[in-house]
Amino acid sequence: MSKVYIETYGCQMNFADSEIVASLLQKEGYTIATELAEADYVLINTCAIRDNAEQRIRKRLRELRAQQQHNPRLRIGILGCMAERLQSQLMVEEENVSFVVGPDAYRRLPELLAQVRRQGVKAAETELSTTETYADIEPVRLNSNGISAYISIMRGCQNYCAYCVVPYTRGRERSRDPETIVAEARSLWQQGYKEVTLLGQNVNSYRWKEGETVVGFPELMRRVAEVSPRLRVRFATSHPKDLSDQLLEVMAKYDNICKCIHLPVQSGSDRMLKLMNRHYDSAWYLDRIAAIRRYMPDCSITTDVIAGFCSETEEEHQMTLEMFRKVRYDYAYMFKFSMRPNTYAEKHLVDDIPDEEKTRRLEEIIALQGQIALENNQREIGKTYEVLVEGESHRSKAQLFGRNSQNKVIVFDRHDVQPGQYVNVKVVRCTAATLIGELVGEQSAQ
Ligand code: 5AD
Ligand code: SF4
Repeated sequence: MSKVYIETYGCQMNFADSEIVASLLQKEGYTIATELAEADYVLINTCAIRDNAEQRIRKRLRELRAQQQHNPRLRIGILGCMAERLQSQLMVEEENVSFVVGPDAYRRLPELLAQVRRQGVKAAETELSTTETYADIEPVRLNSNGISAYISIMRGCQNYCAYCVVPYTRGRERSRDPETIVAEARSLWQQGYKEVTLLGQNVNSYRWKEGETVVGFPELMRRVAEVSPRLRVRFATSHPKDLSDQLLEVMAKYDNICKCIHLPVQSGSDRMLKLMNRHYDSAWYLDRIAAIRRYMPDCSITTDVIAGFCSETEEEHQMTLEMFRKVRYDYAYMFKFSMRPNTYAEKHLVDDIPDEEKTRRLEEIIALQGQIALENNQREIGKTYEVLVEGESHRSKAQLFGRNSQNKVIVFDRHDVQPGQYVNVKVVRCTAATLIGELVGEQSAQ
């Protein structure tokens, strides 16, 4: 029986896809290896969002060359966004790669693996689809803590942000049948999972026709939240242009829908937002923030931001800092702009901000955000939260960590608490990244 080792890079969607790949291969008699050393195939599920993501994969391929010397049977396959972007060219550039498979072609994997082994040929399968959602595939949970799991609810993206490679690597947007999504959530709940995260590039445009009626994202969330009041529901990612009040209403109504919204801002400047093709301006964005706070005063808000996009002036950079001061994000993923092949930016704009300047702007955003996150956390001291315990703290075996509904990590002394339990924890101290708390009240084993 052939053994396959899967390595995943990039976003949550890629991690969810690797679980679909594992399922497709297991069904055809392959086993999933836990160690690279015992594998006949290594599949690398790749990311292409920024150049440094791709450089990391190239470095990994060089390391794998050494591995192949110990184990000449080992075949290397590239999956995901870099596979889609570079297609068969990747096998020319990287001689030790035997096959390349794009995100919509994973059903072909068992056949391709066999073909590569039998005929010793190289193979590329990178056709994108307008319908594939892998709706019928029950993912095999990889590296799971048995507590939280991802559920992919849609694929692709057609927003065409000027900087972004995703529409080219993941194809047209398509939604998955809600019945299969709810069934997957129910099955996870029955297996003992306590938290699901619904995934899509822009979940707010989820849309499924059920006869005459259309199921949108708020209705989908409602259905998943109804699976059990003790199953936490999260989602990512929202596009600000489509974040509706109906969704906020549903979120506010269900205690088990987590009070946390990831709302990528990208820039605080209206000119930059227009150039980025984001379809909103700073006033619209701030209105959406105000709506979130109106419906859920305790909701945490996180974001993505890009420093040094094409032609960004110092003044426009300052507007981004101002946006951060106004919103006071709980967490931010902060990036330097990286020009990506084939995007609108690459075809029509100039990457004219010098790298040192991008770095300086990025560092300014990081410093400001660090300060804000610390102040936000300091305000949590004295409050008590229900925490879903995920595991042992990385620092000490005597402590556990979990998250509150707002997705903040809380560390506390373990006593006789087990991962998977819900416990009440009072925050007593904090850093910019972590809350430190104490167990309070009676703990029910559940
Ligand atoms: N350069 C830098 N950051 C990018 N992102 C997407 N494309 C690029 C790029 N070319 C960031 C955006 C997006 C997140 C997933 O990655 O902030 O929201
Ligand atoms: Fe890129 Fe925009 Fe799609 Fe997000 S929504 S993946 S930023 S094109």
